[in-house]
Amino acid sequence: MQSVDDAKVKAARKSLEFVEEGMVVGLGSGSTATHFIRLLGERVKAGLKVRGIASSRASEDLAVSLGIPVIDFRSVQTIDVAIDGADEVGPHLALIKGGGGALLREKIVASAAKQFVIVADASKVVALLGKFPVPVEVIQLAEPLVSRRLTDLGLHPTRRHAKDGSDYITDEGNFILDCACGEMADPAKVAAEIRAIVGVVEHGLFLNMATAALVADGSGVRKLAR
Ligand code: A5P
Repeated sequence: MQSVDDAKVKAARKSLEFVEEGMVVGLGSGSTATHFIRLLGERVKAGLKVRGIASSRASEDLAVSLGIPVIDFRSVQTIDVAIDGADEVGPHLALIKGGGGALLREKIVASAAKQFVIVADASKVVALLGKFPVPVEVIQLAEPLVSRRLTDLGLHPTRRHAKDGSDYITDEGNFILDCACGEMADPAKVAAEIRAIVGVVEHGLFLNMATAALVADGSGVRKLAR
């Protein structure tokens, strides 16, 4: 029987088909994107010439350790293809991301990408987004205010903590509020409401961004388009 991890590897392997010689490649974060970065590292070792832009410190460290040249937005402003995972993939490739806490950089990388390809196991595909809590990255100082506003919107925020119980701090030094919104009939409305709160840096609703999703299960990899 195939495990969830096998499916993640399959999707990641398929996404290599989007990567061509000379491209600038967005490197996602999380376990599925990690499989992709490892596989890309093998290709680079075998001679493929690409440059990566990482969406988290962890992905950057991994890429560098594998010999993938890593650059930033001072050298290029367009990414040919970004490959990343997702916590939920809904209709029209609307996504929830940020379970791993890297949503801000992930969204910056995705916004600069001509193609933004999601790699996921089939359990991530949902009819309505929202069972998975929507992460909201907030400025530390504003966290109590933002939390109150999110509560007033009925979005049930909870401060994220690290495994050792300490404050969870993002790569950019912010807090995360995980919002147990429940299934959303209109994620765009929720996204706009969250975005309007002063002190919010970014949220994990990625709408109209993904260009394709490669979804793997025991029978193979399906390509979903928007
Ligand atoms: C990281 O911040 C996230 O957006 C990940 O892309 C998401 O949590 C999916 O992670 P897995 O690939 O580990 O399921």
